[in-house]
Amino acid sequence: MKYGIETISMYVPRYGMDLRVLSEARNVDYKKYQQGIGQEFMAVPSPDEDVVTMGANAAQQAIEGIDTNSIRTVIFATESGVDQSKSAAIYVHKLLNLPENCRTVEMKQACCSSTSAVHFALATVALKPDQKVLVIASDIARYGLESAGEPTQGAGAVAMIISAHPRIMEIDSDVGYFTKDVMDFWRPNYLDEALVDGKYSIKVYMDALDHCWKNYQETTDAHFNDFHHFCYHLPFSRMGTKAHLHLARHQKASLASKELQQQIEPSLRYNRITGNAYTASLYVGLLSLLDSKELNLTNKRVGFFSYGSGCMGAFFGGTVLPGYDRFLNTSERVAWLRDRKHLSYDEYVKFYNHALPQNGHSYRTSRNRTGSFRLAGVENHQRIYESVPANVGAASHSEKALAAAPVS
Ligand code: COA
Repeated sequence: MKYGIETISMYVPRYGMDLRVLSEARNVDYKKYQQGIGQEFMAVPSPDEDVVTMGANAAQQAIEGIDTNSIRTVIFATESGVDQSKSAAIYVHKLLNLPENCRTVEMKQACCSSTSAVHFALATVALKPDQKVLVIASDIARYGLESAGEPTQGAGAVAMIISAHPRIMEIDSDVGYFTKDVMDFWRPNYLDEALVDGKYSIKVYMDALDHCWKNYQETTDAHFNDFHHFCYHLPFSRMGTKAHLHLARHQKASLASKELQQQIEPSLRYNRITGNAYTASLYVGLLSLLDSKELNLTNKRVGFFSYGSGCMGAFFGGTVLPGYDRFLNTSERVAWLRDRKHLSYDEYVKFYNHALPQNGHSYRTSRNRTGSFRLAGVENHQRIYESVPANVGAASHSEKALAAAPVS
């Protein structure tokens, strides 16, 4: 029996900023962002979006055509959760009107919990092949204004139905793991922005990759050449290239640099124009690869390296299934990314500085361009979510309503 991804979809905010604008504001050579880090555009969530609305928007597409009665588990992976107690999966469960007889849970281990969610889901469907698991990875990557991490910000969500009837990709059960207590990136509860030692994190990432690959090889006897393409966790797209060249060098791969580039480049395209999406980032990379129209990926083997600071890593493989491209909404995704509104620097700062009140008092967020779900505000310490009637998200396009207004 095969287990793997039956459907996969992505949501990215409808606003973003060209990194040329940031490079001017920060007086940094744009080539540093574009070539040195590999980023050209970053997604910026509006004040009426959070990980719940982004996750619900991605999941709404992922469950299209799926009998929701078969979804018995929803796993929400995030490191920018909205509550210390209640799982974001419950909010999504309600917004999507999923059946009551369902378990809902949130998972955390930096950018890697999405991969653990996928593997827990695979184990669930292997035990209960008639059930499906909805896995959602949703995050807002936020660093300080004027910090080194600022150009690597981004946001987005990926949702997948994991089942015993995969249509996109079969995922292997073998995984190479690595865990070590390090402080390369973390966010204490009292901070809104992550703390990161970027250079150290690159080093630890590579170290985790080596250990995961070694453990994967010990488990499977696999070789570098068994894979046609690779997807890496992408805090910024150049990290994927660095990691791939590092692994190839360590494995003494006999491929020319152009061939190595072809193994990785298709998975970097979306990250370059959306930025980091933490837990979702690896799977944004997978969608970027799958949406590459010039490639026929049928039966191609893909190697995945998932990394979560702190740190934990996982290396595993999957095989793209025949007909996979019929189950992807590639044209819609490409159009969505193309049609995003470009923010000016001042608009970006306004969005960045927007914060919900810390006292839980009544508050209404301004209506901006969103997907089908938005955060309407806060009432008595409770987040209030609402559906956006069809076309309103696009039509409202409220450039004038950039600032959020408290209830008077
Ligand atoms: N033209 C082309 N390339 C340039 C350049 C220019 N004008 N100026 C600098 N560069 C290159 C540098 O040589 C460097 O390349 P290298 O990595 O091959 O050496 C690259 O751009 C980055 O420059 P650097 O000086 O190292 O940048 P930085 O100090 O601003 O930090 C990051 C970059 C990525 C470390 C930083 O943005 C960061 O910490 N981001 C967050 C990452 C994260 O979240 N990690 C944890 C989760 S995995």
